[in-house]
Amino acid sequence: MSRENLAVDRPAVQNAVMKFPAELIRQLAAAKSVAVLTGAGVSAESGVPTYRDSQTGLWAKYRPQELDTPDAFRRNPRLVWEWYLWRRQQVTEAKPNAAHVTLAAMQNRFPSFYLITQNIDGLHQRAGSRDVIELHGSLMRVKCFDEGTVVANWKETGEGPPRCPHCGGRLRPDIVWYEEMLPEAELELATHAARTCDVFFSIGTSSVVYPAAALPLEAAQHGAMVVEINPLPTPLTKEADFVLNGPAGTVLPELFASLPKMH
Ligand code: OAD
Repeated sequence: MSRENLAVDRPAVQNAVMKFPAELIRQLAAAKSVAVLTGAGVSAESGVPTYRDSQTGLWAKYRPQELDTPDAFRRNPRLVWEWYLWRRQQVTEAKPNAAHVTLAAMQNRFPSFYLITQNIDGLHQRAGSRDVIELHGSLMRVKCFDEGTVVANWKETGEGPPRCPHCGGRLRPDIVWYEEMLPEAELELATHAARTCDVFFSIGTSSVVYPAAALPLEAAQHGAMVVEINPLPTPLTKEADFVLNGPAGTVLPELFASLPKMH
């Protein structure tokens, strides 16, 4: 199938309906199983900063090696804990946007629907998505740095990481840091979704962080149609069957609205 690159990067005009390729709509409408991989771009329109966007991304201002590694936590647990307190505060104040809401609606449209996210912000769940496969953990959970046990309730002391109620170790966010492995069960389920879906969407991710970035390629190898939604090109762009250039909060609702109505 030939790849189509669509320029849909324009403000949503009331009643305007984007024109999507007939083949994309036909295959999506007929899909029995759909898998979606999301990245930070999906939450950009909620005001949550991405990582790598050149002016606004977190890594334009902060150094990941000083904040997002086990060594950084060992060196300066208070700094890392407070960095995540700030990020948690930021996402608590944010609201799900039209892309999150559309993805939540999509789960009821297809017989099988998998939502795989690299995001740690919980906005998919707050929009109503169920069974979200969180590949990189969650800002909303903490675990013991020493034992890895997830701790449901903790109190801020104002003095850095509180202590684990079981062993007295320091608590840390339940997030996959650099040099750490992804949670096995989640990665397994995401790989299964990629291998068995008819359509695979990659939305709002720079497609440079593995193993997540391998999922659309895995899906393509197993015969799925791969669709990318992103205002900018990524390493996946040349491999995708359809590329929808635009913000997810505009493109996704219009794409979903273009599907034939269910009877
Ligand atoms: P990045 O910051 O690397 O990429 C964000 C992508 O979103 C870019 O390709 C942007 O062009 C795109 N984008 C920006 N605004 C958008 C919009 N409104 N609609 C659609 N796309 C938009 O974020 P990720 O790919 O998610 O890992 O980064 C992957 C991982 O790197 C993160 O999960 C994080 C980081 O290290 C961990 O925390 C473990």
